[in-house]
Amino acid sequence: EKVILAYSGGLDTTAIIPWLKENYDYEVICCCIDCGQEEELDGLEERAKLSGASKLYIEDITDEFAEEYIIPCVQAGAVYENKYLLGTSMARPGIAKRLVEIARKEGASAICHGATGKGNDQIRFELGIKALAPDLKIIAAWRSDKWNMQSREEEIAYCKEHGIDLPFSADSSYSRDRNLWHISHEGLELEDPALEPNYDHLLVLGVSPEQAPDEGEYVTMTFEAGIPKTLNGKSMKVADIIRELNRLGGKHGIGIIDIVENRVVGMKSRGVYETPGGTILMEAQQQLEELVLDRATMEVKKDLGNRMAQIVYEGKWFTPLREAVQAFVTSTQKYVTGEVKFKLYKGNIIKAGTTSPYSLYSESLASFTTGDLYDHHDAEGFITLFGLPLKVRAMKMAELEQE
Ligand code: ARG
Ligand code: SIN
Repeated sequence: EKVILAYSGGLDTTAIIPWLKENYDYEVICCCIDCGQEEELDGLEERAKLSGASKLYIEDITDEFAEEYIIPCVQAGAVYENKYLLGTSMARPGIAKRLVEIARKEGASAICHGATGKGNDQIRFELGIKALAPDLKIIAAWRSDKWNMQSREEEIAYCKEHGIDLPFSADSSYSRDRNLWHISHEGLELEDPALEPNYDHLLVLGVSPEQAPDEGEYVTMTFEAGIPKTLNGKSMKVADIIRELNRLGGKHGIGIIDIVENRVVGMKSRGVYETPGGTILMEAQQQLEELVLDRATMEVKKDLGNRMAQIVYEGKWFTPLREAVQAFVTSTQKYVTGEVKFKLYKGNIIKAGTTSPYSLYSESLASFTTGDLYDHHDAEGFITLFGLPLKVRAMKMAELEQE
């Protein structure tokens, strides 16, 4: 029997290979799914095989991640607990999907992952697999009674006992997760919310605002029906736009957030996220929406954006609810077309002009001169009716006080 192992090449997932063979007698097929983590993939096959795997798949799903997962979340304005742009959360369903595809191709009967038993990732992987392949067995190595390694030292020792002698270092750094959209940092000093993050050590995608250049930098983007199309005049696919925005945003200290968030499994956890390009992209999208969406649609969209964030955070991507919310969001994007210009300056994104052929903004309406479309006298009657319930209640209160 075969098992598909979600494999990163790190110590944790490497130790799982001999563990699976020893405890389940499986043939282990490793699968490294690349969502744009920019990791060294050379030598990974050798490492997997040396550790006892029969095969290694390296699957690049970066474009799919950008187009099918990131874009819908950007369009929805999905932000978890007002801050977290969901970089890890939205990558998980795409990974689960590819794991299932490979399991089918190989005729495997199980999928194994190395997410911890205290986190959100286990939920996201497992809900994804359940939704797409209810018959597959899921092995969560770290939650297994058969797993008794508690530290990196023990994992290294276990690997050595099984003839795997690889240069893993015993000291642990931050727990990180990187992809095209972001990098997350958890652990070390971040575990105490009373402590300031050690930014010099921590940051990977860019610099802090203090270290950013004194000179700002202008960026121009265009969108068509809610999809970014060009950056500084150049046509690019979505993943490349995000890469270039990451470079620009990282340089100018954009998109660093520090949050104590509520995990699905009940505990609070503190993390720092770098989402330089994502922060810019979401801001640009919103700048255009300000011009083209009507007020009532914007209000509902804001609610559904929060709902989308929750759905994605909780790993419920492959559900009818996510599809329905996404369908609403897609329909709001029809006229999100135009050009957005802004300046990046020490952690800030400063507007420098937005235009759209579908703009609902009317200068003559907004300015103070009266015209045909708007008569000040109409406002009087409007306010009388709009304020009627407030007035009725105030009169009632006054009456009651008299008694
Ligand atoms: N707390 C974030 C989330 O739940 C980030 C998780 C990072 N995952 C990781 N395996 N390091 O989405
Ligand atoms: C993990 O448990 O693997 C990382 C943290 C999380 O999923 O929230």
